[in-house]
Amino acid sequence: MSESEARRRLAVPLDVSSLGEARALVGALEGVPGWLKVGFELFGAAGPQALALAGESQRVFLDLKLHDIPNTVARAVAVATAQGVGMLTLHAAGGAAMLAAARDAAAEGAAAAGAERPLLVAVTVLTSLDAAALKEAGVPGGVGDQVARLVDLACSVGLDGVVASAQEAPAIRRRAGPDFTIVTPGIRGAADSADDQSRTATPGQAIRAGSDLLVMGRPIVRAPDPAVAAAAVVAEIEASLGAPAD
Ligand code: C5P
Repeated sequence: MSESEARRRLAVPLDVSSLGEARALVGALEGVPGWLKVGFELFGAAGPQALALAGESQRVFLDLKLHDIPNTVARAVAVATAQGVGMLTLHAAGGAAMLAAARDAAAEGAAAAGAERPLLVAVTVLTSLDAAALKEAGVPGGVGDQVARLVDLACSVGLDGVVASAQEAPAIRRRAGPDFTIVTPGIRGAADSADDQSRTATPGQAIRAGSDLLVMGRPIVRAPDPAVAAAAVVAEIEASLGAPAD
């Protein structure tokens, strides 16, 4: 597997609150990650300008985790599609009608704008939640059961993939097949702090578990040299691609 393939497996979130900070971070990353993730913090501060920060060999992953009535989500997806984003998130728990409206809006928006259709990936259970937190929210069963239910829902509607932890990735792969995209946040090096994440994995563990795209923020963004930290993650991804599951 090539280094460029490994770069396309890493997304670094631009979790900063101004366009200036985001530009500085993109510069410090020196084009190493293949994806730049824009969340609500930066999108709220800088709007569509935040979607124009990617370099030539990079794509933007707009992570607004949409969850609203179908018409509202469809209109938001159409606008983001016209801006040329490469990937969008929405909550699987929004239901089949919302997911289908998003799917149709992405296809129609891309055709109308002559743009590539963004990948639509559904959030299953946030990696900051564990079984106790799900129980508090009234969700029966454990994390695995809830992820399985929401994966089946996303598949039935024809979404491109889901966001899930590395722990659930092998079961999702068996359930949803080889072409389904698994995006995994909560990535940490063996020596990193977990911060507020619960279900963490190292880059190698996540790739071997079958995750396609790793989202790794604070350990890279807060490193003395983010490009060096990101390159080390890319090297670990490259070494793990094609390796058997743990
Ligand atoms: O800094 P850290 O590596 O924890 O950042 C993870 C990023 O992934 C954050 O931008 C967070 O919003 C996002 N994310 C997540 N869990 C999900 C979906 C997205 O942590 N289920």
